[in-house]
Amino acid sequence: MERLLDGKNITIGTCYYPEHWGRKMWEEDLLRMKDAGIEVVRVAEFAWSKIEPREGEYTYEFFDDFLDLAEKNGMRVIFSTPTATPPAWLTEAYPEVLNATRDGDLIRHGSRRHYNYNSPVYREYCANIVEHVAGHYAGHPAVIGWQIDNEFNCENWAFYSESDNKAFRRFLKEKYGTVERLNEAWGTVFWNQTYTAFSEVHVPRRTNTGAVNPHLELDYIRFISDSVRKFAAMQSDILRKYIKPGDFITTNGMFGHIDNHGLTRDNLTFYTYDSYPNFAYCVDGFRPEEPFKDRWSSRALTEVRSISPKFGIMEQQTGANGWNVSMEAPTPRIGQITLWTMQSIAHGADYISYFRWRTCPFGTEMYWHGILDYSGRENRRLLELKEIHKKLCRMQEVAGAVYQARVAVVRDYDNIWDAEIDHWHGRIQRPSEDALFVALQQKHIMYDYVYLDDSVNEGQLARYSLLFYPHPEILTEKRMKLLENYVAAGGKIVFGCRTGQKDLRGFCVMEKLPGLAFRLTGTDVLEYSLAAPDEADVHVLWDGAELSAPIFRDMLAAAGEDAAVLARYVGGCYAGEPALICNSFGKGKAYYYGSTFDVDTVKFFLEKLSVTEPLEAVLNLPEGCELAVRRKDGVDYIFVLNYSKEEVKITLKSPLDELLSGEVEEGEIVLSGYGVKVYKRGSQL
Ligand code: GAL
Repeated sequence: MERLLDGKNITIGTCYYPEHWGRKMWEEDLLRMKDAGIEVVRVAEFAWSKIEPREGEYTYEFFDDFLDLAEKNGMRVIFSTPTATPPAWLTEAYPEVLNATRDGDLIRHGSRRHYNYNSPVYREYCANIVEHVAGHYAGHPAVIGWQIDNEFNCENWAFYSESDNKAFRRFLKEKYGTVERLNEAWGTVFWNQTYTAFSEVHVPRRTNTGAVNPHLELDYIRFISDSVRKFAAMQSDILRKYIKPGDFITTNGMFGHIDNHGLTRDNLTFYTYDSYPNFAYCVDGFRPEEPFKDRWSSRALTEVRSISPKFGIMEQQTGANGWNVSMEAPTPRIGQITLWTMQSIAHGADYISYFRWRTCPFGTEMYWHGILDYSGRENRRLLELKEIHKKLCRMQEVAGAVYQARVAVVRDYDNIWDAEIDHWHGRIQRPSEDALFVALQQKHIMYDYVYLDDSVNEGQLARYSLLFYPHPEILTEKRMKLLENYVAAGGKIVFGCRTGQKDLRGFCVMEKLPGLAFRLTGTDVLEYSLAAPDEADVHVLWDGAELSAPIFRDMLAAAGEDAAVLARYVGGCYAGEPALICNSFGKGKAYYYGSTFDVDTVKFFLEKLSVTEPLEAVLNLPEGCELAVRRKDGVDYIFVLNYSKEEVKITLKSPLDELLSGEVEEGEIVLSGYGVKVYKRGSQL
């Protein structure tokens, strides 16, 4: 086998737990996997006790035997560091390695991810086990790469142990130097929160009102992210000493309170994502009126592409969800495993590892089904997998092709985290981001997320003809400079209400709003208000179209001669006042919309700003189908994905090769329920 993500192969794998099965089953399982086209297995992420059953006692034979068998049968292995589940001998002897609740009660052994990242004892034991597993197994010829831990911050992304308190103080001391500067940065004079020493500072605790100083909270989330990154770095530094040349280091995600971009840049060869689209069908949360369901996973995949342009899927769903206590969902219908596999590939994943080979008959996840059921008998999910493998063999040339987007939604961690703790921010950010996703998907306009951090340069922005940066309350000089240069060179950008309200500390700025965005937007925000409940019918009139203005409204004025009022409020206390300003800036234009965005508003912006469906001339699709294009060597691979169980019709305006069937198709085509097409065509986008 070639290397994973080598740009030449699309490879499939699975997650296997040798510790759950008698050794006698291993070889037959490996042979059956091979028969289904599986070339890689991931192992060991929860198997610490199989390697160090008691403190300082190492038993390598178990995985030695498994790796030898894998090698004998031509199977490649991704080995994991087993640090997501510290063993009982460790948590009993050193309870300080455990995480705690906000009230300081320890989170006990008995589930998973019960540790904290900052305990010096845990770090020492982790460094030790990673040295041992890497030292022993990294040279094995079956091993091709490493997974660090498992799903950082899954289930729990807040940490309140005593070690976290201490580490938080160190983090703050490093950031602010003196307690006086910390007091200033957190505005502790408010409600007499002033500290006289770092030792008085704590991670968020229960308070009388429930509210915690918002600037402390923002720094606390940054601290969590920093803690995860340092923990990952500790492991990747050790792994790098041992891995064979060409072997990779990855981790799987993706969860909150982590700067995954920085984590990946510093520590990983590439990032992997765990894709469980069937969450959309959980029986508890099921919303029949919600049309997007499993298509929402495309949004997460868009984010993963931004973290790691080359990425794989470490866990791709194959069976029903179901912990014995939560998350119940039906078994994927026939065709959905194929659809979800193609969804991942359409967004750029060239490695798909299915979760999991066999369903475990015991433990919390005994209803979380894998490919095989408990008996292991041939079933329709395995048959579907074999069909998927055949399909992938027909589309290997797609490997390495790059997702094509000419629109980007700009994000950054400061604003994502601020929107979590600040309700004014959160209540506008979430609906606007949802609306952008839905509108762009329905219009079949591919988009990327661009996270503004120090690594982003003008060249990266220049590939987009349009940026949406819906509500960046926090702005910095540096980020604004980058955006100004982008627009000056001919780009277009759209902002929404409350832009530029805050600085990096999360303080509201005292300049004219929108603060640092004043120059670029040519907009003066004279006043603002949450939408009053009795003003639900207020809207914005733009060239005859009535756009909604929900949740929040800025009252605007054009500032400067290059700024023009494009639309005004109708109704409400801002009736007749400007609601949309367009500012010509260099060769480009910046738009400031005074409210939040719903799906129709986004679609109207796209129309007015002349962003059309990129493949309009090639094919017509219903809104319910996703369009994704990957390009390589002048060839476009056009994915059409039908998320509905009903068949749909698409129209091809000229003949195209369809890779999965090997046929040339033209005219009106019936796409079956959950069906997928992969067309190939010389690139003319
Ligand atoms: C993932 C996790 C797996 C398994 C799966 C199903 O989050 O990495 O270990 O738990 O979900 O619950």
